[in-house]
Amino acid sequence: MPRTIVVTSALPYANGPIHIGHLVEYVQTDIWIRFQRMCGNRCYYFCADDTHGTPIMISALKAGVAPEQFIGRIHKEHSADFAAFHVEFDNYYTTHSPENKALSELIFNRLNEAGSIAKRPVGQTYCEVDKMPLPDRYVRGTCPRCGAVDQYGDSCEVCGATYRTIDLVQPRCSLCGTPPVFQQSEHYFFKLADYEKQLKDLFAAGYTQKSVANKLDEWFQAGLKDWDISRDGPYFGFKIPGEDNKYFYVWLDAPIGYMASAKNYCQRHGLNFDELWNNPAHELYHFIGKDIMYFHALFWPAMLIGAGFKTANKLFVHGFLTVNGEKMSKSRGTFIKASTYAKHLDPEYLRYYYASKLNDAVEDIDLSFQDFVGKVNSDLVGKYANLASRSGPMLARQFDNRLGSLDEDGRQLLARLTAAKDQIVEGYESLNYATVVRTISALADDANRYVEQNQPWASAKTDPAKALTTLTAVLNAVRVLTIYLKPILPRFAQKVEKFLSVDPLRFADVDKTLENHQIGAFERLFERVDEEKVTAMVDQSKEGQAPAAAVPAAVASPATPVVPGIEPIKPECTIDDFAKIDLRVAKVLSAEKVAGADKLLHLVLDVGVGQKNVMAGIAKAYAPESLVGRHVVLFANLKPRQMKFGLSEGMILASGPGGAEVFILAPDAGAKPGQTIR
Ligand code: MSP
Ligand code: ZN
Repeated sequence: MPRTIVVTSALPYANGPIHIGHLVEYVQTDIWIRFQRMCGNRCYYFCADDTHGTPIMISALKAGVAPEQFIGRIHKEHSADFAAFHVEFDNYYTTHSPENKALSELIFNRLNEAGSIAKRPVGQTYCEVDKMPLPDRYVRGTCPRCGAVDQYGDSCEVCGATYRTIDLVQPRCSLCGTPPVFQQSEHYFFKLADYEKQLKDLFAAGYTQKSVANKLDEWFQAGLKDWDISRDGPYFGFKIPGEDNKYFYVWLDAPIGYMASAKNYCQRHGLNFDELWNNPAHELYHFIGKDIMYFHALFWPAMLIGAGFKTANKLFVHGFLTVNGEKMSKSRGTFIKASTYAKHLDPEYLRYYYASKLNDAVEDIDLSFQDFVGKVNSDLVGKYANLASRSGPMLARQFDNRLGSLDEDGRQLLARLTAAKDQIVEGYESLNYATVVRTISALADDANRYVEQNQPWASAKTDPAKALTTLTAVLNAVRVLTIYLKPILPRFAQKVEKFLSVDPLRFADVDKTLENHQIGAFERLFERVDEEKVTAMVDQSKEGQAPAAAVPAAVASPATPVVPGIEPIKPECTIDDFAKIDLRVAKVLSAEKVAGADKLLHLVLDVGVGQKNVMAGIAKAYAPESLVGRHVVLFANLKPRQMKFGLSEGMILASGPGGAEVFILAPDAGAKPGQTIR
């Protein structure tokens, strides 16, 4: 009986490009799906862009487009990236869809009816300049424990302390730099602890790998806490039913996006979504990375249980990608976009390499470029392609592309290859691709040895019948190996199918043989790669990166004591660093209040070589008319930033505690717009 299997990969954020780290997951999943299909199982592969939340809203704002437009653009890019790597979804949808909205409301309402939603006030940080609540990551300040400057609002990267944004010393909005205010707001919570028993039963039944189960034990011991599932507007997401300015937190509707993608597919293909998703006879699997385990192991199944939906049979968790033993890094050029990779190298190389490294453990996998080049050249080119290219063209030249029949020797070779089938099937099924690849590569060695021993190029001259028998065995070996490799190398397999003139290969074909069969024209399969291509790819990945983004968080210089309430002196910077900052005298040509932002003034400045617009948070200190004609010091080469109220092309320097006491003016006597300051 063929199985019906519904599979998902995590939904990539619509906030940036697909990179080779993501691809670990999508390649892992795609291989599994292709394998299942080749076994005759019915498989559905659903995914989507994860489109909601503050970061995406801000990215759209910075790009100067509406979020809908922004995510539309990313959707196209992501789809093209996946296609280039032969990751074939049945539906690659978006979480910003009517299906997802309806399902999110349905699930929320059902959880509410089940008594699993609570409402209570929480303190939140709010930026009065940007006019929005700030997620923890958008508040920066000095760590209250160790005094490290410029730390995120939730935890300190230096000493590891966790805290609330409220606890930061001198908190600032990371968008506009002004101190945020704290306010109370009613939030909705999902009462996760209500589901402790059901969740424990789920894990006892094998919902995750063993190592994940251990992590879960820790979480249970720490106690399951209520989960804040609402965010105040402005927020790009779905409004909570009955609310004016409250939205579902992105992580509520994101996993529901799996279902919405399936539902959209069903609608377009005349299928019944409830039947497809909820039928207990259908299998359901989620592939995810280790960083999003909490959401998928706890919140998601609890939501499904509470709302009366089926939970997945299993969560497959993989580790993270490192490159040459280190975290992917923009400055080292190892943060490689899928599209950059595909410009330089064949995507099937990476599929093969990842497969050769993947198993069912939650371990990180390392892409070592040297190892990568070695494997591609020795296995793909040296073993698989070589086998075909030694025999195919010869068969064409001498035997009109027609296979003969097998002899005992050839049958024995094939018997050794086919005997590995169950082991390979088991390896794929259990996600132990590394073992699969090792097995196939050993079989290819066996077949290549057979060629060496039988020397068809020699016997072709003395004993053509023997040569034909040898070539027939070799091409049958190519066929069996291609079946084994097809989930990993779909394009390679397609070329071989065409060349052998056979129907799309499946696992059931392993035991068949091709004899007295006319084959097609040989096509080159893989090219060698040289290190230069890899270097070019790495170099290109270094280009166009904003160096500022790579600057790590630093500790206050140790010589300065930490004084409560006073921001420590920042770490040392060199005169070269300072020289990058262009400080100029600028003359205020006009100053106006900004409607809707009571702290902001819109200044037009004469900088000697032209004019600049600056949005300055000084409205509490200066009446606009008092500034016209005066001089200020301008940070003139600050990267322009699109703010909600317009483009700001610089920043004026100020001192003082803030509010009404901000001092910005440069001396007017003798000041000239454009003068540099050192
Ligand atoms: N949007 C969320 C997932 C929502 S699922 C309902 C998200 N997006 S992501 O773009 O950050 O990551 C998508 C998937 O790629 C995740 O499973 C994540 O673990 C995986 N990876 C992202 N970077 C990775 C590596 N460097 N290495 C391996 N997998 C990585 O999380
Ligand atoms: Zn702000």
